[in-house]
Amino acid sequence: MPGEDFRIQEMQLEDLESVLRIEASSFTEPWSREMFQEELAPDISLVLVARTEEATILGYLCGSIAEGAFHISNVAVDLGVRRLGVGRELVRSALAQACRRGAVTATLEVRASNLTAQALYRDFGFIVVGRRRRYYTKPVEDGLIMCLDQLDETINAWSEGEKA
Ligand SMILES: CC(C)(COP(=O)(O)OP(=O)(O)OC[C@H]1O[C@@H](n2cnc3c(N)ncnc32)[C@H](O)[C@@H]1OP(=O)(O)O)[C@@H](O)C(=O)NCCC(=O)NCCS
Repeated sequence: MPGEDFRIQEMQLEDLESVLRIEASSFTEPWSREMFQEELAPDISLVLVARTEEATILGYLCGSIAEGAFHISNVAVDLGVRRLGVGRELVRSALAQACRRGAVTATLEVRASNLTAQALYRDFGFIVVGRRRRYYTKPVEDGLIMCLDQLDETINAWSEGEKA
C-alpha cells in the first residue's frame, strides 16, 4: 500500500467501514457511525477521502463551511500509510474546495500534545490563536485553536508555486 497513487474524492456512505476502522485506531474518543453519517448529509459539509485505484481508503477529512469560515472537524490517515503525504493532500484539497465555496478563513482545534498534526497545519500557514482549557478527555487536555486567514492568498500562492 505505501507509495500507492490516490485521489481525493467525496466520502460516500459505503466508505464508512474503512473510515470507522481508521478512526478507531487514530483516536481515544472515536466518532461513531452516526456522527459521520450526520456529516455526510448537510449542504455545508465538506467530507473527503483519499482513495487508491483499488478503492482502498487511506484517510479522510471532515469539515463544514458557514459564514465564510471553513471548520475542519476531523482528519486521520491509516497508520500504515502515514508520513507519505496523504494528510497534506486531504488538507490541501479541502482548503481549495472550501475557498471555491466562499470560505475566507479556516479554523480547527487540535490537542496541545498533538505536535504531528500541528506541524501539518503550520505547513499550510495555520497559527495558534487561542486555547480551550480541558477541551479534550481521555486524557483530559487543552485544545489549541488554529486559524488560517486569507485562504484565497494561500491558494493563489500554491498556484504561483506550481507555475514557477
Ligand atoms: C496528522 C495526520 C493526519 C497526518 O497525516 P500524514 O498523511 O501522516 O501526514 P503527511 O505525510 O501528509 O505529512 C505532512 C506534514 O505533516 C507533518 N508531519 C506528519 N507526520 C509527522 C510526524 N510523525 N512528525 C512530525 N511531523 C509530521 C510534517 O510537517 C509533514 O511534512 P513533511 O513530511 O514534508 O515533513 C496523521 O498523523 C494522523 O492521522 N494522526 C492521527 C489522527 C490525528 O491526530 N488527526 C488530527 C486531529 S487534529
